[in-house]
Amino acid sequence: MNHQIQSPLKNKWVLITGASCGFGAAAARAFGAEGAKLLLGARRVDRLQKVAIEARKAGAAEAHVHELDVTKTPSVEAFIAWAKSKIQASGRPMPNPARLHVLINNAGGAHGLDTVAEGKDADWEEMIQSNVLGVLRMTRAALPLIPRDAGASIINIGSAAGHTVYEGGAAYCAAKAGELQITRTLRHELFGAGIRVGTVDPGLAETEFSLVRFKGDAARAKKLYEGTHPLTAADVAEILVWVASRPPHVNIDELIVKPVDQAEVGKVYRRTKTQPD
Ligand SMILES: NC(=O)c1ccc[n+]([C@@H]2O[C@H](COP(=O)([O-])OP(=O)(O)OC[C@H]3O[C@@H](n4cnc5c(N)ncnc54)[C@H](OP(=O)(O)O)[C@@H]3O)[C@@H](O)[C@H]2O)c1
Repeated sequence: MNHQIQSPLKNKWVLITGASCGFGAAAARAFGAEGAKLLLGARRVDRLQKVAIEARKAGAAEAHVHELDVTKTPSVEAFIAWAKSKIQASGRPMPNPARLHVLINNAGGAHGLDTVAEGKDADWEEMIQSNVLGVLRMTRAALPLIPRDAGASIINIGSAAGHTVYEGGAAYCAAKAGELQITRTLRHELFGAGIRVGTVDPGLAETEFSLVRFKGDAARAKKLYEGTHPLTAADVAEILVWVASRPPHVNIDELIVKPVDQAEVGKVYRRTKTQPD
């Protein structure tokens, strides 16, 4: 963004779920650099606090954090009540709560890579709870805070996995395909409301995603990125800022972004290191 011209996101409220690491943390820093006011949620509050410090250093007008578990309706409702109070407090003497300019539904991830025959209930339930029901819960709760006809955006984080399938990916692919259909449904339901709705769907990106999928097996997670050049969290965050700062009449409906070295989810080019003689 050319900072000689004031960013359209300056002093705008931006709510990011899953902001404790990965895309969400990078988005907090990137929206912070635009001068936005941030409301950051995730389960690990200590990590959120560090991200908020970085975002303020980057230029955030404000950065607040609160515990959030998108798999639980009471947690989502408590988070939104807190968000509303922060927005109102900064709006005095006109405490209009409907000033949430950007909602980024990012919290989620994959758990396990088992075939359906070997699948674990706990993994399936976690993936559907966070990636699908979490987006529904957050959006339902946040909608009253989002202004009509003001260039506000709901941006969901889907995945290239929502557009394809791979062995061991049944529940994750289903969850991200579900997120895509929620985004499309919201486009219909918010027709005429002047609220933008879109999905940003990344391919292979190096974050804590694989560490979570492989339940803390760092060697297995690292192997996934070996010899190739995956997306970084900053690459995705830059796109989120771009999507949210288009002119108010422009809606980026669906955006798929993959590394050059990834033609398909399971087709990744690996540049083998030259071995010394
Ligand atoms: N990395 C990739 O290759 C890739 C590709 C396409 C799409 N995605 C999607 O991008 C999103 C972000 O993933 P990432 O790559 O940045 O992975 P990450 O580094 O593991 O970050 C995931 C974030 O989601 C949060 N989260 C997970 N479950 C949550 C819950 N129940 N309630 C609240 N927050 C929760 C985590 O925070 P806490 O653990 O602190 O709660 C963390 O901040 C996910 O939706 C993922 O599916 C990732």
